[in-house]
Amino acid sequence: MIQTKSTIELLRKIKIEPSWAFADKTRKDTAYATHGYHRYPAKFIPQIVSRLAEKYTKQGDLIVDPFGGCGTTLVESKVMGRPSIAVDINPVAVLITKAKITAIDPFKIEKEFATFQKRLGTYNEKIRVKAPEHERIDYWFKPEEKRKLAFIFAEISKIKDRDVQDFFFCGFSNILKNCSIWLQKSNKPTRDFEKKPSEPIKTFLKQIKMMLRGNARLFELLSEKGYLKVPSKVICTDARTIPAQDSSVSLIVTSPPYVTSYEYADLHQLTALWLEYTKDLSDFRKRFIGTSYHSKKDLVLNSALAEKIRNELLKKDKKTAEEVSAYFSEMNQVFVEMKRMLKKGGKTCIVIGNTSLKGVEILNAEVFVEQLQNLGFKIADIIKREIPSKNLPSVRDETTGRFAGINDKNKVSVYPTEYILIMEK
Ligand SMILES: C[S@@+](CC[C@H](N)C(=O)[O-])C[C@H]1O[C@@H](n2cnc3c(N)ncnc32)[C@H](O)[C@@H]1O
Repeated sequence: MIQTKSTIELLRKIKIEPSWAFADKTRKDTAYATHGYHRYPAKFIPQIVSRLAEKYTKQGDLIVDPFGGCGTTLVESKVMGRPSIAVDINPVAVLITKAKITAIDPFKIEKEFATFQKRLGTYNEKIRVKAPEHERIDYWFKPEEKRKLAFIFAEISKIKDRDVQDFFFCGFSNILKNCSIWLQKSNKPTRDFEKKPSEPIKTFLKQIKMMLRGNARLFELLSEKGYLKVPSKVICTDARTIPAQDSSVSLIVTSPPYVTSYEYADLHQLTALWLEYTKDLSDFRKRFIGTSYHSKKDLVLNSALAEKIRNELLKKDKKTAEEVSAYFSEMNQVFVEMKRMLKKGGKTCIVIGNTSLKGVEILNAEVFVEQLQNLGFKIADIIKREIPSKNLPSVRDETTGRFAGINDKNKVSVYPTEYILIMEK
C-alpha cells in the first residue's frame, strides 16, 4: 500500500515536458515516407519512437514493439538502421505494417501500377466479378461500389509478387470505409444511409499514387544510408508470445491498447471481411487485450493499486470491474514477456495515458509502473507529454462514443496528456 501511494505521488509530481509534444510537427512530418499509408486508431507519432531509439540504442540493436499497430516503430527502426520485430493480434495491422516496411524499387512498382491502371480501365458493368460471400459485405456496401471493389480486389489477387500485392491490398484496405456507408469519422460501426460513398476506382488510384510517393521516399532514405536490408519482421500473434530470443532485445517501444476503448476488431471489420481474415467477428474480437470478452478467472494483478481500482469499480459496476481486472492481469503477462526478451540494462518505453470509467480513475500509468517494479524493473525515466489535439481527438461523446465537437454537451475529455514510462531491466 505504501508503494501504491508513492507511485501516485511520484507521477503527480512529474511536469509536462513541452518538447515531447512535438507540437511543431505538421501532418507532413508525422506522415512522412510510408507513415501516411493507412489510418489507424491511436497510432503514435514517429518522432516519439526515433527520439527514444536515438537515446537508448545504437545501429544494429534490436527493437521490439509487442503492440505493433500500423508499424510506426518498425518503420522508424528501419530508417535508423536498427533490426526490429513487431507483433499484433490484428491481421489488418500486420498487412499495413508489411506494406509500410517494404521499400519496393520505385521503377518496379511504378511499372506494376501502370499495368494495373490499364486493367482497371477495362471495368464495365458486364464484367463478371465475385465479392466475398458474407452478409456483412451487403450490410456495408451498396451494389455499385461492391461490384467495383470486387473488381479491384480480383485484379489485386492476380498479382504474383507478394510485396507488390500487399502494397495494393494495403491501399485497398484504406479506401473501404470511404467507399462504404460507414458513418464518416465514426469509430463505432454505424451506418449512414444518407452517405454518398466515394467512387472506388478513382479513390483507389488516388490512394495508390499517394503510396507511390511514400514508397519512393522510403526507398531513397534507406538506399542513401545502406539500410535496405536491415531486418524488419512483423508477425500476427499475441503480445505474450513474441518470437524474440531471451535477453536479445535492447529496446521496446510500444503503446498498448486501452481497456474497452477501441474495439479494433470492429473498426477493421471491413478489411477483415474483404480479405477473409475471419468469418466470425465475435471470435476475432476475443483475441484483443482490452476488450470485454476475456476470461475473468485466475487473474494476477500484481499491483496493490490495481486491486484498489478493482475494489472501487466493484462498488459501481461488477462487469467493468472484471474487465479492468482482466486488462491489468493480461498487461502484467505482457510485461513478463518483455522481461524475458530484454537484455540486462535494456529499456521498455510504454506510451500510456490514464482514463476514467464509471467515475473511477483508471490509473494505467501508475499501475504499470507498480507491476513492472514488482517484476524487477527499475524506473529509468518518466516523461509526461501533451497530446496535441490535431494528432488525437481530445473529446468524445459520452453516450455514442463518437468523437465530438468542442461544444457538444455530452463531451468528455480523453487522454489530453500521457506518460512515456521508461523502465530498465
Ligand atoms: C494503441 S495500438 C498501437 C498503435 C501503434 N503504436 C501504432 O503506431 O500504430 C494497440 C494495438 O494493440 C493490438 N493488440 C490488442 N490486443 C493484442 C494482443 N493480445 N496481442 C498483440 N497485439 C494486441 C491492437 O490490435 C492495436 O493494434
